[in-house]
Amino acid sequence: YCVPICALKGDNICVISDKMEWYSGPSLLSLLETIDAGKNNADVPFRLPIQWVNRPSRIFRGYCGNISSGTIRVGDAVISSLTKKRSEVKEILAPNGNIDKAVPGLSVTITLADEIDLSRGDILTKDPHNIIPSNHFASHVICMAEQKLIKGRPIIVKFCADETSGQITEIKHLIDINTMTKSPGDELSINEIGYCKIVLDRPTGFDSYNENKITGSFILIDKLSNETVGAGLVSHSLDRSQNISWHGMAIQKEQRALKNEHKPCVVWMTGLSGSGKSTVADALEQKLFALGYKTYTLDGDNVRHGLNNDLGFTESDRVENIRRVAEVAKLMADAGLIVITSFISPFISERDYARQIIADDEFIEVFVDTPLNVCEARDPKGLYKKARSGQLKNFTGIDSEYQKPKNPEIVLNTVNKPPEALAEQIIEYLIPKTKL
Ligand code: ADX
Repeated sequence: YCVPICALKGDNICVISDKMEWYSGPSLLSLLETIDAGKNNADVPFRLPIQWVNRPSRIFRGYCGNISSGTIRVGDAVISSLTKKRSEVKEILAPNGNIDKAVPGLSVTITLADEIDLSRGDILTKDPHNIIPSNHFASHVICMAEQKLIKGRPIIVKFCADETSGQITEIKHLIDINTMTKSPGDELSINEIGYCKIVLDRPTGFDSYNENKITGSFILIDKLSNETVGAGLVSHSLDRSQNISWHGMAIQKEQRALKNEHKPCVVWMTGLSGSGKSTVADALEQKLFALGYKTYTLDGDNVRHGLNNDLGFTESDRVENIRRVAEVAKLMADAGLIVITSFISPFISERDYARQIIADDEFIEVFVDTPLNVCEARDPKGLYKKARSGQLKNFTGIDSEYQKPKNPEIVLNTVNKPPEALAEQIIEYLIPKTKL
């Protein structure tokens, strides 16, 4: 038996389900003894998460996976959760040869009567218990790594064999496992449990944990380190994908580019406070404007006066700051503009998120590479002085991390170079890239 998610403290164990349960010593032992090890059993609707499509030749196509729940027989009608394609089971191949019936826990290869196209991550089910795919759900999440789980930070969500990118969009509350009380929070530290809303980049098939222990649970994987940093149990789908669809407009980016006589792009400037981002951004926009380009500059200090005036400088607030700016920059690029962003944007994962949603070939990452001691000597707003004297907390470069870009398109060395020359360096790169 495997306890689905637990928080450990000394000899105590907290089992997380929709009804929080808390056990220690003898009550933990009696819990383990009374547990029905076959809970995800044949009585639960059939689920076969497809782990691999085996196509050794053009005449054979088998869907391989481990049966999570329910039973399946040769001749049963099946339906796929994602594509909604239907067929009938032709053969069930098990480790010791063909069988007529398969039960939970068994790894099988299933062939179907029809040539339908299913892929890894899809789930074979049966009517009327098919899964409605969704990209939004509520769940209990536990953080399992030193690295915090932060609201808004892109993360990989893995259900059985399906991995998709997503993010925690809301932490409704943290749960104190000692007192079972709830408290507000924007992040989960190691062993902390929160009730969260999660949004995926695309819909996927899952159940609630109450309905199915296997297809109702998931793990969270860090995008940079590839480490498992959390796990969760689905409470229920929030079904947003059912009610929201993308409306394709007649006027597209291409028409706007023709009218503007240039393609759009996002010049994403990153660097320490005082590194010169805003000064170079200003010089760059003036030059581009004079050359007839349609431009707009999004600047950290300015955006924080309006759209982001609810955010401070904690890690989670910076993650949200950059997420919103990336979305706005994406819309502005879609509107046809050359967008210049000037934000410290200290974390690789959020800059990568911006690159991913904006499209790689429209994203120009500019590292304004001014050493900390130079920024500190410049100290245009007196903030380094305040940070050094302890009056200002979470200051980038002092007591808050700055992660240097690994492969920026442009590196600007601001020491001994005037802003105009640095703006020219960007323009040289940008002109051919935005040519029609
Ligand atoms: S970011 O880290 O979230 O990208 P952003 O670029 O929006 O930061 O804002 C940085 C500006 O806010 C700095 O140029 C500085 O003027 C001001 N600021 C105020 N407090 C801080 C702080 N703790 N760390 C960094 N910048 C700060």
